[in-house]
Amino acid sequence: MSIKLSNGKEIPIEMHKARMVQKISLPPVEQRLKAIEEAGYNTFQLKTKDLFLDMLTDSGVNAMSDNQYAAMMRVDDAYAGSMTFYEFADAVKDVLGYKYVMNVHQGRAAEHLISKVFAKPGDVVPTNYHFTTTKVHIELTGGAACLEIYHDEALKTESTNPFKGNMDPQKLKNVIKKYGKEKVAYVRMEATTNLLGGQPFSMQNLKEIKQICKEHGLILVLDGSLISENAYLIRQREKGYENKTVAEIVKEMCSYADIFYMSGRKNTCVRGGCIATNNKELFEKLQPWLPVYEGFFTYGGMSQREVAAMAVGMREMVDLDMAGCAIEQIKYFVNRLKETGIPVVTPPGGLACHLDAKKFLPHIPQSEYPAGALTAALYIVSGIRSMERGTISMERDKDGKEVFADLELTRLALPRRVYTISHIEYAVDRINWLYKHRNLVKGLKFVFEPPVLRFFLGKLEALDNWGRNLAEVCKKEIGDH
Ligand code: F0G
Repeated sequence: MSIKLSNGKEIPIEMHKARMVQKISLPPVEQRLKAIEEAGYNTFQLKTKDLFLDMLTDSGVNAMSDNQYAAMMRVDDAYAGSMTFYEFADAVKDVLGYKYVMNVHQGRAAEHLISKVFAKPGDVVPTNYHFTTTKVHIELTGGAACLEIYHDEALKTESTNPFKGNMDPQKLKNVIKKYGKEKVAYVRMEATTNLLGGQPFSMQNLKEIKQICKEHGLILVLDGSLISENAYLIRQREKGYENKTVAEIVKEMCSYADIFYMSGRKNTCVRGGCIATNNKELFEKLQPWLPVYEGFFTYGGMSQREVAAMAVGMREMVDLDMAGCAIEQIKYFVNRLKETGIPVVTPPGGLACHLDAKKFLPHIPQSEYPAGALTAALYIVSGIRSMERGTISMERDKDGKEVFADLELTRLALPRRVYTISHIEYAVDRINWLYKHRNLVKGLKFVFEPPVLRFFLGKLEALDNWGRNLAEVCKKEIGDH
């Protein structure tokens, strides 16, 4: 949550205490330069020994609670029929309101199964926005086309619209009319749209989309990887929800979805995922494929320890303090950057603070990957690992042509309960320094490009060796640290 100080200033306040910590260090700038060169200017390729703050992602790197660790100590390690799984299923019923659930090893495994079972070549999947792995599964596994039918405001990085993650209902109706309802495999809503900068949708919008799906007999799939944060933002921003609990809002959101899935690596702070529904027929279409790709239905590719911790995490994620812990830090981070004129995605959303690389580095064309360059440059000057969410994160089209991303973002994710305000202040300082020296940053060029999800393993080089130049100026002006 956030708290108002006596001088009127609002700050995020941690509603937990740290009782176990992990040491980190700030490697000198020369080491950082060497590391990023070896990593091919791709922050996914860095080793954690070369990092100060790891803001690559909020996935699988959150601080678990004491109750989660305690639950991991007492598990039923059976291959089949484990009571730990049934405790998890009870938590899903209580929190999400679904009768049927299966675990999967992580969110993309759910995407794989859902697209395999429900999508076929020639189909379309309308979504409020794609996620990288979602799109690949819809297109490769399902052979269908992923259609983005986002709100008009969605691509404006600076905005005051509270729900940039809304799907445009009229555009959905047009898609159904154009392709015919039998060609719409399912409609997908992502709670706090990852690639739009963690922007939420409103309950009103979800209800409208559900109504359209119902009228046409379409399946509504909800990606709830960040559901408690979308619910927290509904509570803060949508009229009529200010006095509801996050738990009530989450349950209402789930009541509109025919199929729910989530990566358990985010809101529930573990390493796993699940698919849930109240529709027996849909469940029975999915379930036979689970042992083929994941494992028997009472573990679904997860260790029972993680299943036990996920059951606890599921109940904890709807606690107001937990649901808001990253959101309030992100709000603080975004507002501090906005104060100094840094181009950052507004309003603040879930998941991360996002820099708008097109505006930060207007001299770099999209063909030279401004978000990738900014992400690498930020690491050189700060030791902070962020993530490129721009053209490098896109797939080439079927003729091998580059597809430019709608947005070029550098994402600084806030893992839950991990970093403090002083860490954020450090990041704000180095981002400001980099902004003043932004002309030193130039573009990137691929030297190794994998055929799919190239952002994970791709290697690039800095045009005109700008990384060395930036490191030298940084060392001269700020010193080694
Ligand atoms: N859906 C959303 C909205 C996600 O953000 C992610 C993962 C997935 C699905 C896939 O889940 O990683 O468990 O297989 N997002 C991570 C990130 C990777 O860093 O944003 P997964």
